[in-house]
Amino acid sequence: MRLFTAIDLPQGILLRLERLVAALRPEALIKWSPLDNLHITTKFIGEWPEARIDELHEVLAEVAPRPPFEVEVRQLGWFPNERSPRVLWAGVHGGTALKSLAAETDERLASIGIPSENREFSPHLTLARIKSPVPLRGLRQKVEELQPAPVGKFQVSQFTLFRSDPGSNASIYRKLREYKFEAALAASGAQK
Ligand code: 2AM
Repeated sequence: MRLFTAIDLPQGILLRLERLVAALRPEALIKWSPLDNLHITTKFIGEWPEARIDELHEVLAEVAPRPPFEVEVRQLGWFPNERSPRVLWAGVHGGTALKSLAAETDERLASIGIPSENREFSPHLTLARIKSPVPLRGLRQKVEELQPAPVGKFQVSQFTLFRSDPGSNASIYRKLREYKFEAALAASGAQK
């Protein structure tokens, strides 16, 4: 199984992203992400044997106890750069709380053999992938016009383990389990 952990987006944010993407989409023939696929990846796990899924759940449950925190979706950007981009993204701002969720997920998973990240965590939403050279002038202009592209803020109170499978058009992401912060926090308090 190909797995990753991510923060799911609430309906209100998805609606606003839909409007943003509707304004951008006509400007370039690139691979726009289906709205349902949008999420904030906190850790790419990669291949993991189905027979060892309980081990993974146990470790992820240890990451869960934490207070909820706020995340803001704002700004559009290009990866790796604007000149020859492979990805158009929306920025995700979650301060140290989001960073530590990603760092602790990475750390705990390293203890069961999942390779640790060597790149700095850079939270984002992949709005579109650019697979082959296409004219991007119109899209670049539209992106500039829409900046700082304020999508909205929301409270994060859980993260999700996702399974990724290849689809005919885009990858298919399925939720395997949700890890709720506060329930985990209460349970860990009750244990003490
Ligand atoms: P991306 O959207 O920036 O490509 C599932 O593939 C999720 O894991 C995607 O959100 C993807 O981020 C993220 N991811 C992070 N590192 C990855 C990697 N090495 N290979 C594939 N996906 C990765």
